[in-house]
Amino acid sequence: MDRQRISVGILGATGAVGQRFIQLLEGHPWFQVAEVAASDRSAGKPYVDACTWRLPGAPPAAVAGLQVLTTEGPFEARLLFSGLDSSVAGEVESSLAAKGHAVVSNSRNHRMDPDVPLLIPEINADHLEAVPAQRKRNGGGYIVTNPNCTVVGLAMALAPLHRAFGLESVHVATLQALSGAGYPGVPSLDVADNVVPFIGGGEEEKIETEPRKILGRFADDTFTDADFRISASVHRVAVSDGHTMAAFVHLRRPATVEHAIRVLAEFRGEPQERQLPTAPERPIHVLTAPDRPQPRLDRDREKGMAVSVGRVRSDGNGGLKLEALVHNTIRGAAGAAILNGELLQARGLLS
Ligand SMILES: NC(=O)c1ccc[n+]([C@@H]2O[C@H](COP(=O)([O-])OP(=O)(O)OC[C@H]3O[C@@H](n4cnc5c(N)ncnc54)[C@H](OP(=O)(O)O)[C@@H]3O)[C@@H](O)[C@H]2O)c1
Repeated sequence: MDRQRISVGILGATGAVGQRFIQLLEGHPWFQVAEVAASDRSAGKPYVDACTWRLPGAPPAAVAGLQVLTTEGPFEARLLFSGLDSSVAGEVESSLAAKGHAVVSNSRNHRMDPDVPLLIPEINADHLEAVPAQRKRNGGGYIVTNPNCTVVGLAMALAPLHRAFGLESVHVATLQALSGAGYPGVPSLDVADNVVPFIGGGEEEKIETEPRKILGRFADDTFTDADFRISASVHRVAVSDGHTMAAFVHLRRPATVEHAIRVLAEFRGEPQERQLPTAPERPIHVLTAPDRPQPRLDRDREKGMAVSVGRVRSDGNGGLKLEALVHNTIRGAAGAAILNGELLQARGLLS
């Protein structure tokens, strides 16, 4: 083990998001994977045998031989990244926070808790002010979450517009990739040559609520949602990775298309200021070609950590229309959580 780097554990390490964590943390300058955990089905086996690796190449040698633990641990790593199935994530993450761990989770269970930050570090790093109260309650441990994969793309595109012009309401139709459902996900006979206008697990509700917490305020120990409405309609499409969304945005103050493009393209936050290892140089890439963004061509911008926005145009009625694209298992999941972990370290919240 490299003594210079911080040992971390991965919960749900065998799943789609868990594998992304392990792939993205290979060679990470600050963190190294020291512990992996999954269900009883996997526990006790070497990682390489417990997991069917579905990313290109093979699991990194340093992780392949780790014995998979149950989620009860015990874990030596202070920082635990979670890609656990939501049927178990709620209880497991609470219990590990109560044991003093910093749990950085992808799962939906704790996102809307009144003292848990729902973090996109470029947008609401100040929401980490909710952590000290959790630490006090838990004897040092706490939970920080990242949003639903689609919400990362939507909130990123909305944040600069909200700051510059104020959001009144947003309508959004999504086209979501298959990997968003984990493995094996949607049966091939349901999705080949088809579009499914439904995604379970409360997907539309998450898209309609999470951005309001993210763009809201934390003051006097309380989160207050941003005051705008969102209406969402979701679709599963036969794309492997990359969630696309068409957003229709009504603003409180008038915006020209040129001004909107400028605030989107110039958007930066604390990860860029601090030059965190996983931070994209530009969180939003504004594309001007009339037929972009496209998942196959644009999802891997800045190693999958940048959101692509295109087709920014007027709706002819004082509002804007745009398309946004996010890599759902990188910026929308494991990469987002790793960036959150880096921000915790940079702000001294891992000691
Ligand atoms: N896929 C995405 O794009 C995406 C994006 C954002 C957020 N998320 C969220 O991230 C989480 C993981 O999603 P995923 O797509 O990676 O799912 P997945 O591929 O089904 O993986 C689930 C993981 O949870 C473990 N697990 C399942 N039941 C368990 C139990 N009873 N006790 C302990 N561990 C258990 C599995 O271990 P075994 O292999 O041992 O069964 C596996 O490691 C979910 O909460 C999901 O909503 C996913």
